[in-house]
Parts: sequence; C-alpha cells; structure tokens
Amino acid sequence: MTRFSATLQLCMLSLLSLVVAGPLKKLAIAATEPDPSFAVSVQVAGKTFVNKGLVAFGLIPSNFADSTDNTFGGVGSAIGIRSGSFAKTLDGNFAGTLIVQPDRGFNIDGTVDYQARQHVLDFKLSPYYSADNLSFTGAQSTLRLSYRGTLLYFEREHTKTTGLDALAVRPADRGFPTIISADPAMPIPAKNFSHLSVDAEGLALNKDGTFFVSDEYGPYIYLMDPAGNLLETIQPPAAFLPLIDGALNFTGSMNPDTGRVANQGFEGLTLDNTGNTLYALLQSALVQDGGDDDTTSRFTRLLAFDVSAPFLRRPEVTGEWVVPLPQSKKNKTRAASEVHFVSECVFLVLSRDGNGHGNDNDDSSYKQADLLDISGATNIHGTQFDLSSGSIVTDGTLDSSITPGEYVSFVDFIDDTQLARFGLHNGDPDDQTLIDAKWESLALAPCLDPDFPNDFFLFSAADNDFLTEDGFVNGVPYNAGINNDNQFLVFRLTLPTVPEKTFDNE
Ligand SMILES: *[C@@H]1O[C@H](CO)[C@@H](O)[C@H](O)[C@H]1NC(C)=O
Ligand SMILES: *[C@@H]1O[C@H](CO)[C@@H](O)[C@H](O)[C@H]1NC(C)=O
Ligand SMILES: *[C@@H]1O[C@H](CO)[C@@H](O)[C@H](O)[C@H]1NC(C)=O
Ligand SMILES: *[C@@H]1O[C@H](CO)[C@@H](O)[C@H](O)[C@H]1NC(C)=O
Repeated sequence: MTRFSATLQLCMLSLLSLVVAGPLKKLAIAATEPDPSFAVSVQVAGKTFVNKGLVAFGLIPSNFADSTDNTFGGVGSAIGIRSGSFAKTLDGNFAGTLIVQPDRGFNIDGTVDYQARQHVLDFKLSPYYSADNLSFTGAQSTLRLSYRGTLLYFEREHTKTTGLDALAVRPADRGFPTIISADPAMPIPAKNFSHLSVDAEGLALNKDGTFFVSDEYGPYIYLMDPAGNLLETIQPPAAFLPLIDGALNFTGSMNPDTGRVANQGFEGLTLDNTGNTLYALLQSALVQDGGDDDTTSRFTRLLAFDVSAPFLRRPEVTGEWVVPLPQSKKNKTRAASEVHFVSECVFLVLSRDGNGHGNDNDDSSYKQADLLDISGATNIHGTQFDLSSGSIVTDGTLDSSITPGEYVSFVDFIDDTQLARFGLHNGDPDDQTLIDAKWESLALAPCLDPDFPNDFFLFSAADNDFLTEDGFVNGVPYNAGINNDNQFLVFRLTLPTVPEKTFDNE
C-alpha cells in the first residue's frame, strides 16, 4: 500500500471514529499505536524526537548455557540486528535475528580464560501498546527469544582469545602477513601465554558479514571476518593508550598515568548509514581529562574512523569530539555504555548508574538512551589533545577552545509507569521483576509503518555479569550467589532526522 492511500485510509478512519462511540475509538488506537499519553518529545537538530514508550520485554534466564558449556552471560555488552533479517510477519508482528556479545566471562573472583564470542538469537516482537499492566510472565510474550548458536573469536593463527587480565604486552610487528600491516603492541595475559586478551564491549556489523569489536583492554577495535578471525587491529590516538611510567600497560586491575581508565574503554561502537564511518565512544573521561575520579570524569571522547576501504588502507581517525556526560546531584558521572548512529552528527547514547538487579543498591536514578548532536562541536583530532600529555580539562573545566557535543535527555528506562506495564519495577524489592543494573546495548529497526515512516524500535539488553547460582566457565561450575536474568527492552521512537531507507535492509 502506498503512503498516500494509507494516509487517506487513516483520515477516513478518524472520520468514522468521530461518528462511532468513544470506547471503540480508544480500542482501535490502543491496538495498533502506542497510547498517545506516553509520548515524550525533545528538540534536537531543529527537529522533534519522540519517545512513544516501552513496547516489549523479554529475557534469557540467568543459568542458560551456550553450546560450549559456558553460561550464556551478559549479552547486553553489545547487540546488533543481522542485516536483512528484520521483517514484518503475516500476523502483523515482527521477526528478526539479534547478534549479542558478552564481555570477558564470569570475573567476580578474578578474570577467567573465557574466549570472546557472539551469540545468535532469533526473536519475535509483538509490540504491546495498551496502557494496561501486563503480568511479568505475560509481558515476556511481547519479545520471545530463541538461541541459534555461538560464534567464537580468534586472533592470528586461529589462536583463541582470552578474558584473562592483560598483564603483559606482545611487541608490535610480529611480521604476520596481514593484509595491511602487522598488529600494534597487543594486550596478552603473560609472556608465556600469548593469547590476545579481549574484554569485548562494542559490536558493529558490516553488511558483508565482517564485523568490528571494541575492547576495554587496548582500548582497541578489531575487524573480524565472518568466521570470527581477526583481520585488522585499529589503535586509537596516543592520548587513549594506557601508559604506566611511560610504558604501555593494558591491565584492567589499576588505572594508568594517562590514557583510558581501567575497565572504561570503548563501550560504544557504531557504523554510520553508509558503513564507511565507524564511531567509538569511550565510557568516561581519559585519566588526563579527570577520568580517575567519577566526579570529574564527565568529559569523554567520541572518535570517528574512515573504514571505507579497510583492506586497502588502515582505518584512520577522521574526527574526535568531546561528549559531556550527565551527572548526578553529587556530580557523579553517568558513564556511557553504548552509542548508536541515528543520522549525520546525531547519535543515541546510553548512560546510566550501576544500581538495579545485580547490584547491592536496588534503587536506580538514571538509565537513559539520550540524544547527542555533534554538529556544533569542535573536532579536536590532530591537535595537542591527541598526545598522551594532552588534557582537554583545565582546572576542572573543559578547555575554553573546545565546544562539546550537545547532550539531550531522551528515553528513560526506569519510568515507573512504563515498567509497570510489563510487570517490572525500579527499587525494592530485590526480585526477578527488578530492572537489571547494567544496560549496555542499543539497536534500531524500522517500525515499517507507512503512517510513521520515521518510527523505529529501539532494542536494548542488559549485561548480567554472568550472575547465576548455576553457572559454568569452560565446563567448571560456579555459584555467583544470585540469579540475574538478561533482560531485554524495546521502545518505539520517532527519529525525524533519519534519512529514508537508512535501516530498510538491517
Ligand atoms: C499499573 O501498576 C502500577 C504499579 O503497581 C500502578 O500504580 C498503576 O495504577 C497500574 N496501572 C493500571 C492501568 O492498572
Ligand atoms: C602492568 O601493571 C601490573 C599491575 O601493576 C603489573 O602486574 C604488570 O607487570 C605490568 N605489566 C607490564 C607489561 O609492565
Ligand atoms: C607461565 O609462567 C608462570 C611463571 O613461571 C607459570 O606460573 C605459569 O603456569 C605459566 N603459564 C603457562 C600457560 O605456561
Ligand atoms: C559539582 O560541581 C560544581 C562545578 O564544578 C561545583 O560547584 C559543586 O560544588 C559540585 N557539587 C558537589 C556536590 O560536589
């Protein structure tokens, strides 16, 4: 049906509903579109963005195991929708395939030799638009997930990656006949255990089946082939590299003197709509920018890389901007767990506290997918700020030569009314219906609604840190003392700046 005839039908429908009784009109709206009372609008880039509310909820049980005898794990580290998989089904619902990526395995009692990987999940999405509250069990039929398999990650010579802390450094230029050039200095656990240490955080899928993985040890970005083998290593500018006493040290167990803070690497990774530009967002400020104290760590950095021809030339940095993260009343930074491209210069950024299910504190005060507009921001790439000594912060405030991106509050994950519609809640009691603590992923799919061509489903999943009483690491059982399911949420948004057809084939 063309958009014109759809609009015409809608007009006729509303004429009709003026004639028929009120309750029937309400029913008709509730069945096909979100209740209009849920809509929250914000202005960015001169356009109106709308959050139409939560439309689906699903979960993977905490003790679910993958095909390799490992607990399924915190899949929310990153998610992506497989290119071409998303479609409307005959019954008016939606189906597709999610690629989900856990991080470095169960590491509450120290890091483990866990191979990085991604899982494949098929999903059925039946958006729920009514204002009535579903039960927690009933809500789970709105997003049904089924496990299809696991793809393991390997580095050079088909060597398994590991989750073990990167206490040693493998020198650069080992002379492998890589397509472009050899790797830079690489994070490894020990000189006699030369496996690449990967704490996978971001994931960006290319249409040809290759994909980019970002990591917290480097912080590096790896281009992988469709079988999970390392093709190319991307190293960020010197300012990002962790230096202790002037030497590279990739450990996640202490902060370096300059560079990324331990365990605050490239949490966010996203490709633009052409697939030619890759963006990586650091979780919070570099050490030299105030990152070693969470009350001064709000000025983080977003990098852009030209990845238009990764087999002809090494991806180069083409842009670098400052992102001012939100803060609590006590100036505590809401660190960024993910970034997702919306349109040229506009992004969704997932920022949050660490409270909720899986944390000792149940009461979350901030979990949001916000909007970032960098159209007016200063590109600091190639300036003194890219050097390891280059700090963008002077006396606690952002250097006056820099205009940061515009950061605008948008989708609230802990809205009590929206959570209650799906049997969920924020704060006490600490049970299975408490919202998860660590939301770390974003993916978009078009609503395929001719009346709202700029409406998208926003998927997000939580990282449960492998917390289960019934877990396995490489076949060896463990008990984390708590069962924390991997929760998934789906929202419906209007994103007016998205060029038509951007996500059509995703
Ligand atoms: C949904 O549940 C919440 C929390 O229990 C309650 O405050 C609200 O009134 C309920 N809404 C409806 C429409 O029943
Ligand atoms: C990095 O720092 C850790 C913690 O101090 C230390 O154990 C390790 O030996 C250092 N690694 C290198 C390569 O200096
Ligand atoms: C590496 O060497 C250390 C210290 O000598 C030893 O404890 C460890 O077992 C060795 N690891 C491997 C994988 O051989
Ligand atoms: C937060 O930061 C501002 C600006 O630096 C400062 O004036 C204020 O005292 C800080 N508040 C707290 C609670 O530390």
